[in-house]
Amino acid sequence: MAAPPPATELPIREGEGEKKTAATEQEINPWDVQAGQDEQGNTLQFDYVAISKKWATKLIDEDLLQRFERLTGKKPHRWLRRGLFFSHRDFDKILDKYEAGEPFFLYTGRGPSSDALHLGHTIPFTFTKWLQDVFDVPLVIMLTDDEKALFKEKLTFEETHKFGLQNAKDIIACGFDVKKTFIFSDLEYISGHFLYNVWEFSKLLPFNQVRGAFGFDGSTNIGRIMFPAVQCAAAFATSYPQIWPNYDPKADRSKAIAKIPCLIPCAIDQDPYFRLVRDNSTRMRHPTPKPALIHSKFLTALQGAGGKMSASDPNSAIFMTDTPNQIKNKIIKHAFSGGRESLEEHRRLGGIPEVDVAFQYLSYFEDDDAKLLEIETSYRNGTLLTGELKKMAIAMLQEYVAEFQERRKGVTDEVMRSYMTPRELEWKGNPNPVKKEKKAKGGKGEAKPAEAKPAEAKPAEKEG
Ligand code: TRP
Repeated sequence: MAAPPPATELPIREGEGEKKTAATEQEINPWDVQAGQDEQGNTLQFDYVAISKKWATKLIDEDLLQRFERLTGKKPHRWLRRGLFFSHRDFDKILDKYEAGEPFFLYTGRGPSSDALHLGHTIPFTFTKWLQDVFDVPLVIMLTDDEKALFKEKLTFEETHKFGLQNAKDIIACGFDVKKTFIFSDLEYISGHFLYNVWEFSKLLPFNQVRGAFGFDGSTNIGRIMFPAVQCAAAFATSYPQIWPNYDPKADRSKAIAKIPCLIPCAIDQDPYFRLVRDNSTRMRHPTPKPALIHSKFLTALQGAGGKMSASDPNSAIFMTDTPNQIKNKIIKHAFSGGRESLEEHRRLGGIPEVDVAFQYLSYFEDDDAKLLEIETSYRNGTLLTGELKKMAIAMLQEYVAEFQERRKGVTDEVMRSYMTPRELEWKGNPNPVKKEKKAKGGKGEAKPAEAKPAEAKPAEKEG
């Protein structure tokens, strides 16, 4: 997520020619994520509602969460309740599948650009592990070692491959069930049916559409131009023939398997890829339903508003290798505070939880809604002080990281390889499905192959 950004033009508003700084809009794409700035050059918070509107995704609402709870019998994860996962495409259709006891799978991934994960990296994985537990479905995790070497000038394929294997261990330490999880390195795994899918899909994509979605130009290396077909083809169930029951190595990519849809948990910056799949998947030789998505925000950097945890800035992030003391010092020294200048002022005016990084982290890790509300209220009215708030955040983060480190200790090379071996996965899905009534003639059938809804945004006209 951080290679040379495609050249972007800063929108300069009329009459602002002579000012030093112009307001800039936020920039969000798979390789460059930057918050906007106001006219004074102050960094703004990310505007997630704006990006959802621009890309025509749906915001996750109370109705959807209630339906989720009704169907699964599980309270929505606090990251859903508190809007860290805030947007989706067709998550409701995945719930239909779950309700009917029909198969679907989860797909997520990681671009291995360094050898250690920070807290922000683990969020989508910890959430995906929770989804895997709740739905009891197979999961594939893609390590895009190919992508990272293509997009980072300084990294070689050998290095990103190594990072990928290291990252796989950290990902495993997020708690995935080996029986239901297949992790693969692109450089190692892509061949056979997967490769057929990559080429078949690439044939459906005119360069215009890819350029529009990603901002490529004539000097972009052609590996980068091809790569989207790789990340996209990973959304097809036929790319993993071995994970499905009754694998027959001689069989063609089958029509029945092609129909199994996937749900992709990812940060919102990955959406441009999957719009390409959604726009074209039904044109594959064996038509595949559009993948569903569930999008997260970025985890705020320690420095606060508009920042994003970054592996290249050690003080912006809590690393999963940090000691309890390092965590404590980082929060105390670097976590942006919404508290006031003096104790007297804080008591009088109260703190501002909205901009307070310790409060935000606390809200990601404290599961008890009532307790969190109490903390928020007492911070806002000045009875709770910044130091006290930070102390609570430190304790929660230390616990999350320590639990991770404990699991990580058990992940040997052998364990890692057991997740990375192509093999049949085992899962049960919904234990109490409601069988759909036989489709009435012309009635509300499930997967109409070309459910072309005009509402779906075409990436080419939305970006670039
Ligand atoms: N491109 C992603 C990254 O740089 C990795 C990735 C591949 C991914 N497939 C994915 C992320 C699916 C989320 C969902 O991190």
